[in-house]
Amino acid sequence: MKIVVNTEEKISQMIAEDFIAVVNAKPNAVLGLATGTSPLQVYADLAKANKEGRVSFKGVTTFNLDEYVGLEGTHNQSYRYFMNENLFNHIDIDKANTNVLLGVGDYVTFMNQYDAKIAAAGGIDIQILGIGSDGHIAFNEPGTPFDSLTHETQLTEQTIKDNSRLFNDISEVPTRAVTMGLKSIMNARKIVLIATGKNKAKAVYGLIKGPKTEDMPCSILQDHPDVTVYVDEDAYSLCK
Ligand code: F6R
Repeated sequence: MKIVVNTEEKISQMIAEDFIAVVNAKPNAVLGLATGTSPLQVYADLAKANKEGRVSFKGVTTFNLDEYVGLEGTHNQSYRYFMNENLFNHIDIDKANTNVLLGVGDYVTFMNQYDAKIAAAGGIDIQILGIGSDGHIAFNEPGTPFDSLTHETQLTEQTIKDNSRLFNDISEVPTRAVTMGLKSIMNARKIVLIATGKNKAKAVYGLIKGPKTEDMPCSILQDHPDVTVYVDEDAYSLCK
């Protein structure tokens, strides 16, 4: 596991460059994407690089980690909406090649086919992850089996509380989600994780120093051969 400590601006730039390098080396690369606050600057940097002609996403396929159950893709807190607004609408990607789990309709069938779909696309070349304050990656909450594939899950009270900042009221936050599993994530060839702020310090400690345990889902990444953890000083503070 490689660890890089720098400012949020710098680590975002570095992750964007990791993605650009992968896509420039393999124009039909498969990208694993996350939502949330953490990757926002990375996506802005990728859109800028695309406008400047430093990278093209025309041949790329993407798979997102997760989606809330119960939200249509047009809902402004759905992850499909987030991805369109923060990345896909600003780059030259073919939206037909962007995959986000469904939260409504026959979402269970779609969910059950997701890992096979990723494999059929050739597997994920580079996966970006954020991390929850409870150590979740994607929506794999504490206690999720390390060998899990894409599945439906109940969000913890902590995650609902953390995510309520984006909704008008905590009662509007969905309580269930569909998510790639820990094994699905471990199948990616390269993983970059971004964490900033004191709120993430405990989870980052569990990720880097803690024992490998299903109580701290991110700790499974200790076993991955190509992970870079990008953190700011606050998120790294307990590891010093
Ligand atoms: C989102 C996801 C989540 C977030 C995590 C951190 O697709 O998979 O695991 O990465 O909840 O969220 P932020 O970045 O908003 O602190």
